Amino acid sequence: MVIHVKNYINGKWVTARSGRTFKRENPAFIDKTVSVSPRSAPEDVNDAVKAAKRAFLKWKNVPAPKRAEILFRAAELLKQNKEKIGDIVADEMGKVKKEAHGDVQEAIDMGYYMAGEGRRLFGETVPSELPDKSIRTVREPIGVFGVITPWNFPVAIPGWKIFPALVCGNTVVFKPSQYTPACAYEFVKMFVEAGLPPGVLNLVTGYGSEIGDALVTHPDVKGITFTGSTVVGKGIARLCAPDLKKVSLEMGGKNATVIMDDADVGLAVEGCVWAAFGTTGQRCTAGSRIIIHKNIYNKFRTGFLSAVKKLKLGYALAEGTDVGPLVNPDAVKKTEKYMRIAVKKDKAKISIGGKRAKGGELSKGYYFQPTVLENVKPGMHVFCEEIFGPVVSLTKADNFEEAIEYANSTGYGLSSSIFTSSINLAEKAARSLQSGLVYINTSTIGAEIQTPFGGIKNTGNGHRDAGGKGGAIDTFSEMKVISVDYSGKIQKAQIDYQGKNAR
Ligand code: UN1
Repeated sequence: MVIHVKNYINGKWVTARSGRTFKRENPAFIDKTVSVSPRSAPEDVNDAVKAAKRAFLKWKNVPAPKRAEILFRAAELLKQNKEKIGDIVADEMGKVKKEAHGDVQEAIDMGYYMAGEGRRLFGETVPSELPDKSIRTVREPIGVFGVITPWNFPVAIPGWKIFPALVCGNTVVFKPSQYTPACAYEFVKMFVEAGLPPGVLNLVTGYGSEIGDALVTHPDVKGITFTGSTVVGKGIARLCAPDLKKVSLEMGGKNATVIMDDADVGLAVEGCVWAAFGTTGQRCTAGSRIIIHKNIYNKFRTGFLSAVKKLKLGYALAEGTDVGPLVNPDAVKKTEKYMRIAVKKDKAKISIGGKRAKGGELSKGYYFQPTVLENVKPGMHVFCEEIFGPVVSLTKADNFEEAIEYANSTGYGLSSSIFTSSINLAEKAARSLQSGLVYINTSTIGAEIQTPFGGIKNTGNGHRDAGGKGGAIDTFSEMKVISVDYSGKIQKAQIDYQGKNAR
């Protein structure tokens, strides 16, 4: 059954003004269409921004706990529809059933969390240095937010962004990835059914290259939140710079797992398989580099290769599938390109996989074999560059210091992990690993929504998704400081009560 997606603008489901559409195929069965969606143009973006701008004037003044009640209902509806939407995630994006349903769960969790934040959007009362004066901080929304999301977490990431944006009082124009418009459509439906007023959340589907710039540069869009590649994110930052727009960027990763010689090898193997091949390696948190203490290299290698060999590729909703297809033909080509680079330029060795997976049902989709590279050294392309596919590299290190140095030697800084039974090494690693997320004795993937999510270096620009205060609430609000002087005098901070007047 094909899903006919519509844009949602000013409280109405509409086609693109041009009437043009585009199709999204199932990455596991590329002759099957999953969705047909509006191929929007800048004129559709303008309509959506106009609606969001108008709605903002009212929405920002709806008391936050009341905004939150609507979000709570949306989370409830999402929960009721988890199975259905989870299966659409699996069909449109390709990740296996339990992960696809987990994707929806991540948004449900975020919805409940942000609904609670509606009664916790506290500011602070601050002592003044002057008598008869009070100071407080309040959180204010920013305005119309452009929300640009990727296909790899097609419900979770919109959830990370849209729930907090709305609870803070912003209005939203949501542009999902062209590969997952139906997921976005089903997600937005939950807000509509929950009773969100017209214009507060608008959906515009289409190609990034055709509508992305129009959204980012629109003068009435006051903030942009983006998850995707570092190249696109830096381009967005440049477009936002002239207007000093608030822009929150969540980008690539090349995440390392360090295995020390005192690690529980069985645990490390299981954690590394999950980190590398979960979501077919298409997570920004994917554990794509494994750095192993030389004393344990052979033992880890043996266990790891035998576990990888057992992974079953297949359709996301088929029983027993461990790893689904890649998202599109470009992803397959990119992974193939990195295989050539690995062998020819880097002189690494492909120990398992390395090819497009074919044969039987697999020939119908964008499948790539789970791949393990060995003889990988710091500085190599496959060590430094994000492949975003089912490819993981093994690197030997002489000692802890060298392993940490290797882990930190790329341009990204999202997630890292260490397997060790030493509390001292674990704590030292937690301090030294240069990433926004550090995991001890577990995988680099699987962040929980109540913690701020993001990274340093080329991964982010200092803002965070998910989490509450210190995370998404900060991203989607501004602080206003209100000072009330009830002394009846013009008192001068930093000047009165100094020197001989000091009390
Ligand atoms: C992403 O890959 O962009 O921590 C997000 C994780 C997930 C989110 C990943 N909760 O792996």
